[in-house]
Amino acid sequence: MNVNIRRGKESDMPALRDIINHYIVETVVTFEMVEMSLENRKTWFTQFSESGRYQLMVSEIDDEVVGYAASLRFHQRPAYSPSVMTSIYLKPDQIGKGIGELVYRALLDELKKVEEVHRAYGLVVLPNPGSERLHEKLGFQIAGLLHEGGYKFGEYHNVRMYEHRLGK
Ligand SMILES: CC(C)(COP(=O)(O)OP(=O)(O)OC[C@H]1O[C@@H](n2cnc3c(N)ncnc32)[C@H](O)[C@@H]1OP(=O)(O)O)[C@@H](O)C(=O)NCCC(=O)NCCS
Repeated sequence: MNVNIRRGKESDMPALRDIINHYIVETVVTFEMVEMSLENRKTWFTQFSESGRYQLMVSEIDDEVVGYAASLRFHQRPAYSPSVMTSIYLKPDQIGKGIGELVYRALLDELKKVEEVHRAYGLVVLPNPGSERLHEKLGFQIAGLLHEGGYKFGEYHNVRMYEHRLGK
């Protein structure tokens, strides 16, 4: 298996839309509730840059995009701006093969170079053993629990907050 990790580009948006829409419709791992349109993903893409706080890395196999990791705004209040929220999703048939680790590590390596980013937070809806293990393996620490912090598919869900200090 030859996995290539690179920066995301606008032409990846149909693939990324399909990946996230699977998890929106079928699972509680994301608290998004409404399927994304291509227009929505193209707008989402405009926040990313190669050296700023918000970055997008994708993984591909044989030129097919099979996953992504992104850093996003953590909170709209301006004093939170040195903190980013991270997000990672793979195509369902590509999980458990080490691809998540590759693409997430690449994102974190880029964020470590960005002066303006001080902390990265991953919010994991519990239970999610693969994501929990991946965050711990990549050096995130448990920062807290949002007890029943979200409501999806008729149930409340606990959310664990992971913090990465990015060596700062
Ligand atoms: C979470 C996700 C990104 C992890 O990526 P992945 O490629 O499947 O994980 P990796 O193969 O890189 O494995 C990373 C570590 O987690 C472990 N792991 C993976 N799946 C696991 C599972 N179901 N249970 C326990 N450990 C698991 C691996 O063994 C590995 O640890 P190790 O090296 O100590 O053995 C991926 O599974 C995914 O996209 N899941 C669906 C979407 C999702 O939940 N996104 C995260 C939202 S917070």
